[in-house]
Amino acid sequence: MTDHVQIERRGPIQILRLNRPDKKNALSPAMYAALADALTAAVTDAGIRATVISGAGGCFTAGNDIADFAAGAGKSTDEEAPVSRFLKALCVHPKPLLAAVEGVAIGVGVTMLFHCDFVVAAEGAKLQCPFVNLGLVPEAASSLLMPRITGHQIAAEMMMFAERFGPHEAKAAGFVNRVTPLGGAEAAAIAAAEIVAAKPPEAIRLTKALLRGDPAERLARMEEEGRIFAAQMGSAEAREAFSAFLEKRTPDFTKTAA
Ligand code: COA
Repeated sequence: MTDHVQIERRGPIQILRLNRPDKKNALSPAMYAALADALTAAVTDAGIRATVISGAGGCFTAGNDIADFAAGAGKSTDEEAPVSRFLKALCVHPKPLLAAVEGVAIGVGVTMLFHCDFVVAAEGAKLQCPFVNLGLVPEAASSLLMPRITGHQIAAEMMMFAERFGPHEAKAAGFVNRVTPLGGAEAAAIAAAEIVAAKPPEAIRLTKALLRGDPAERLARMEEEGRIFAAQMGSAEAREAFSAFLEKRTPDFTKTAA
């Protein structure tokens, strides 16, 4: 158990609130495990009709904990690793998933949004897919899902230039439904969840399954990404990027060419 994820029930809504604000809600293995367990339990809990993922402290998440990356513990191709369990649970979740993005949403903070069915982001949100900056590659089947949602050029720009973008750009790109005033994302996502939770649950489940299609393709892509990601984690460029972040300096990739 970790208190870095708050699990709250509001009637038929489950709220999973990332709660490690001193580290911008960076995700640790314990947090991935708590999220995976809550999502998995919700599948068979008839009382839960929708789940909202949000963050405490005016922040969604700064992505995977880079100290764990540096220690080689952040990502794993092991199916039982907490991050793998979380991504799989997210990918196959049969009930409505909503997200409330406030502040930073980085790395998996963006890629998890492609598995959500409704995303609210607040003014001032700062989103980024920084994988290449860290010597890494996209994960969570985002290399498949993002271009499908945004088209290739926008996905390539967001993934290969890896710059920050705001909620309106994310909405124009197709993976944010609504932009709210600062501080309003969670309440808006819960209000949306209440609407969908009041619908006939079997019709909702069947509709989501039809819209999402066969999960096998997404799971296969996740596995492929996971293999490449794990190999890159040990690369000189990734090690330089992790050290630079932890030492609060600019990385120097001039000496890391293969
Ligand atoms: N992993 C580990 N620690 C992280 C983190 C992460 N992904 N993101 C932030 N933190 C930590 C910082 O190291 C800092 O810790 P400290 O107070 O012990 O020094 C604390 O959270 C606050 O972060 P800070 O960088 O001081 O805040 P900021 O407002 O200036 O910047 C971010 C916030 C999120 C933009 C910046 O921290 C950042 O770029 N983080 C890395 C994001 C990333 O690349 N994630 C990996 C995704 S694959």
